[in-house]
Amino acid sequence: MIKLGVNIDHIATLRQARQESFPDPVQLAKEAIAGGADGIVCHLREDRRHIQDNDVIALRKLNTRLDLEMAATAEMLKFALKIKPDMVTIVPEKRAEITTEGGLDVVRYKNKLGPIIKKLQAKGILVSLFIDPVSKQIEESAVLTADFIEIHTGKYARASYVKGKKLSQARELEKIGLFTQKARLIGLRVNAGHGLDYNNVKEIVRIPGMEELNIGFSIIARAVSVGMKQAVIDMRRAIR
Ligand code: PXP
Repeated sequence: MIKLGVNIDHIATLRQARQESFPDPVQLAKEAIAGGADGIVCHLREDRRHIQDNDVIALRKLNTRLDLEMAATAEMLKFALKIKPDMVTIVPEKRAEITTEGGLDVVRYKNKLGPIIKKLQAKGILVSLFIDPVSKQIEESAVLTADFIEIHTGKYARASYVKGKKLSQARELEKIGLFTQKARLIGLRVNAGHGLDYNNVKEIVRIPGMEELNIGFSIIARAVSVGMKQAVIDMRRAIR
């Protein structure tokens, strides 16, 4: 069965809005695991707008797989090598963005990414690169010996919200399917995420070779009304 990684960043967004000690991302991560999450994902941003260093340290102590999303910076590399998450997903980061807007430009930044990937892997940390479904980005990810790519599904997800745009959504879906196949053929494992919700996830689940989906916002939004455990149970059902 396809795996579900639950991104808990926005629990911390809510906490930081009032600079309180609650809601606690670690407590809610436990609820997500109780609901069937296969792992927890969090993004430690340079500006610390949601997840804090201590959250990651506490999450690491949970008995679950931790995927740390981070930018390719010296500060983050040092932190990751200290914490040793199971996986690091390298993402692009811009200060002014609301969320990760596009995939990493692996081709442009290959010289910077290469040594970071090697250092993480030398510590036994799996490395995933968050990229758009574009041929040259996938090829370069394999050259850099990444373990995984995570395909950015934002364009597909956004298309699904626009009425009368079924065609463009179908095209995005086809692209994700084709590039999943291509990536597998050149030795990469494939995850996907961004903007996935209880409806648009159903087509993504059918893509052969897709290993794990990383989903945050739609689950946290549902958790506000039905609770975290139930929100994850519902997503598990949607991706069965
Ligand atoms: N995967 C990556 C690499 C991300 O940066 C994010 C957003 O933090 C997600 C998945 C989850 O996206 P969403 O919150 O839209 O489900």
